[in-house]
Amino acid sequence: MANFANQVAFITGAGSGIGRATALAFAQAGAQVVVADIDETGGQQTVAEITEFKGAEARFIACNVANPEDVEAAVRQTVEQFGRLDIGINNAGIGGAYARLADQTCDDWNRMLSVNLSGVFYCMQFEIRQMLAQGGGKIVNLSSIAGVRGMIKGGPYSAAKHGVLGLTKTAALEYARQNIRVNAVCPVYTHSAMVDELISRSPEMEKRMRQVIPLGRFGQPEEIAQAILWLCSDENAFCTGQALQMDGGLTAG
Ligand SMILES: NC(=O)c1ccc[n+]([C@@H]2O[C@H](COP(=O)([O-])OP(=O)(O)OC[C@H]3O[C@@H](n4cnc5c(N)ncnc54)[C@H](O)[C@@H]3O)[C@@H](O)[C@H]2O)c1
Repeated sequence: MANFANQVAFITGAGSGIGRATALAFAQAGAQVVVADIDETGGQQTVAEITEFKGAEARFIACNVANPEDVEAAVRQTVEQFGRLDIGINNAGIGGAYARLADQTCDDWNRMLSVNLSGVFYCMQFEIRQMLAQGGGKIVNLSSIAGVRGMIKGGPYSAAKHGVLGLTKTAALEYARQNIRVNAVCPVYTHSAMVDELISRSPEMEKRMRQVIPLGRFGQPEEIAQAILWLCSDENAFCTGQALQMDGGLTAG
């Protein structure tokens, strides 16, 4: 198991789902963890779960990733408290606005892009500035299988997640020589509030969603978290600019 002792992980959207599982996994592997989320209740719950691990340290910072001032302040507070920032997990994201392109509203488009794409951009900017100052770091961005394929009735989501991969690959090239590795994970349906909301609308839809995945099931947040830890680990130090598809075999076909 990778060891992240003496490393500080800044994780957005860690108040729920994949972000929470990732925060817990980093804490278990020895990291100090900053839980950055717009949802204080969920974020504090994650911190409470982390502090149950012996020796694990965590702090909640309220942060709306769509607001660059919030992101700048959150990264600054992280460094003030823990002295550094080694790992940035840009995970905060939203779903919703399921409609075909011609029926999408401009408000939904702007909302989706502001959180799922601009939010990742702002986080990367402030994380990278800090990593440059301290001599390196690791970033993992949450894209999606919708970041490598189209998504019927999910045009804005798919566009944002494709954009996340563009930012990931570009930053990997730009900062490789500064010892900053930047990768992405692309999960298929994974049990979380986001997906549970979607499938609660129709059991029939859940069945159809499960059937398209060769492994025959949805992912678990803990499985995505382990992929993220692996991408950040020193054992994986030659890997940068990659989009790891955590999709139960979907894109193999
Ligand atoms: N669950 C899936 O099937 C799936 C599949 C592919 C990709 N993803 C991506 O994984 C990431 C995590 O999703 P999840 O499934 O765990 O969802 P989730 O809804 O369980 O968690 C999302 C978290 O992000 C936070 N958040 C939302 N908007 C925010 C904002 N503006 N600023 C800060 N925090 C904000 C929420 O409060 C929540 O804690 C997202 O980027 C999502 O697009 C999820």
